[in-house]
Amino acid sequence: MRTINSAWILRRLATLLAVVSLTLVLVAAITGILLAFYYDPSVKGAFESLRQITEEIPGGSLVRSLHNIAGNALIYTALLQIFVMFFGRQHQPAWFTGWLSGGFLALSAIGLGWTAMILDWDQIGYWRLKIEMGTLGSLPVLGPILKAIFLGGDGISSTTITHMYTIHSYLLSVAALTLSVIHLAALLYQERQNLRQIAVAAASEATAEPEKELVATR
Ligand code: HEM
Repeated sequence: MRTINSAWILRRLATLLAVVSLTLVLVAAITGILLAFYYDPSVKGAFESLRQITEEIPGGSLVRSLHNIAGNALIYTALLQIFVMFFGRQHQPAWFTGWLSGGFLALSAIGLGWTAMILDWDQIGYWRLKIEMGTLGSLPVLGPILKAIFLGGDGISSTTITHMYTIHSYLLSVAALTLSVIHLAALLYQERQNLRQIAVAAASEATAEPEKELVATR
């Protein structure tokens, strides 16, 4: 009989978390597209368009809240998944695709949260970006290049919002969607492989039993 141990439960939990991640990405992507209908990625328009979405457009506040909740929940789910997979002993080479997609999914979720910091054009986002860009720019070789990509110039401007918005809504959201599909598919595939291995082991045990009995009676 198969014993249910903690690793078995954690593996089921990992598959469940992969389903939750994919659901959250879909909610964030759909609500993100709805926000894009009214959002204006510019210094003059970002704050005002998000105020309009929240206060004037019917259902706008709900869509914005759903987007923020799903986006932030994805970060926690993807990070939790790494612990669950590790303690569920899913660290063998066979789980490589699951690990790789899970790790990059967590990174793209963090990236989505990070690129969103300037999208609402408020004081906190502005000063946070300014400090972080100062640190990034001081890194050797890649620092100034990355800073130029994010800022799109010397200082924070409409171009910065457009660059961050493009990375957020095209690059990272497509990456997160693709990775969450690959991640779930990899875990489901491994589940099937595990079940097959268990069935083969049970079948060979069953055929070995009568032979043992035969030897014992001789
Ligand atoms: C995989 C899909 C996506 C994820 C996981 C995601 C995640 C996030 C997160 C974490 C935030 C910050 C929420 C906060 O302030 O706490 C955010 C904000 C935002 N996202 Fe996305 N996003 C996704 C797709 C998109 C798409 C496709 C668009 C538009 C085409 C978009 C547009 C926005 C905008 C305009 C904001 C600022 C809204 C606000 O400050 O309330 N997002 N997103």
